[in-house]
Amino acid sequence: MKKLVISTGAGMSAESGISTFRDSGGLWENYPVMDVASADGFRRNPRLVHDFYNARRRELLKAEPNAGHLGLAALEKDYEVYVITQNVDDLHERAGSSNVLHLHGELMAVRTVDEPYRVYRLDPDHADTSPESRDPEGRPLRPHIVFFQEAVPMMEPAVELVSQADVFVVIGTSLVVYPAAGLLNYIRRGTPVYYIDPNPAPVPEWVHVIRKGASEGVAELTRILTSQYND
Ligand code: APR
Repeated sequence: MKKLVISTGAGMSAESGISTFRDSGGLWENYPVMDVASADGFRRNPRLVHDFYNARRRELLKAEPNAGHLGLAALEKDYEVYVITQNVDDLHERAGSSNVLHLHGELMAVRTVDEPYRVYRLDPDHADTSPESRDPEGRPLRPHIVFFQEAVPMMEPAVELVSQADVFVVIGTSLVVYPAAGLLNYIRRGTPVYYIDPNPAPVPEWVHVIRKGASEGVAELTRILTSQYND
């Protein structure tokens, strides 16, 4: 089976009602990003940061995967599909995608403040966290989110996946935040690349741009892949 590697951003979840960051009305228009999503901000006011992620978690628990998420999961019948997402929601998993790599962490998990590898899944019925949250051994917990100013530990496995892709797809990202935005540079020469976005960022002319939202775009991508890569 051919390897289909898909990199998704906030636009992937827009049709599920989850706000993006930089579109008009996006999250960063209403919140000071360095106060709620940076390492310095967390040190300055951890309660503000916990409350910011509590609000996003409540929004997520009301959201459902959209046709774009479901379409990507359906591609697993014809391809070995790997999703690399900048999103911290679990909508790819809930849509049925089997291989999802989160570059920027996960809303539905927490980790100990001192050891990033000690991760705990949150129970949807008790999903709020605070600076007083502790693990079973009494260690302080924080959202399992990669803040600005922090390393992106999953970038290495993500680069590995992109370098093995037979087809690479980018969906719903403004391609402004690195290192995720740099994934495009790791494809093997000649690998076909598709970019699904209604308002795409500038990309090299050899990228096949599908100027549509995620649901319609994934349906068009599926038609293209079915017609061109049937082996
Ligand atoms: N379908 C597909 N794409 C869409 C849709 C849609 N319905 N609506 C908007 N988009 C596109 C926008 O055109 C834009 O290109 O989604 C992209 C959203 O860009 P951003 O808000 O910048 O989100 P993203 O690129 O994922 O941000 C990267 O920045 O704040 C950090 O950690 C955060 O992971 C995030 C990172």
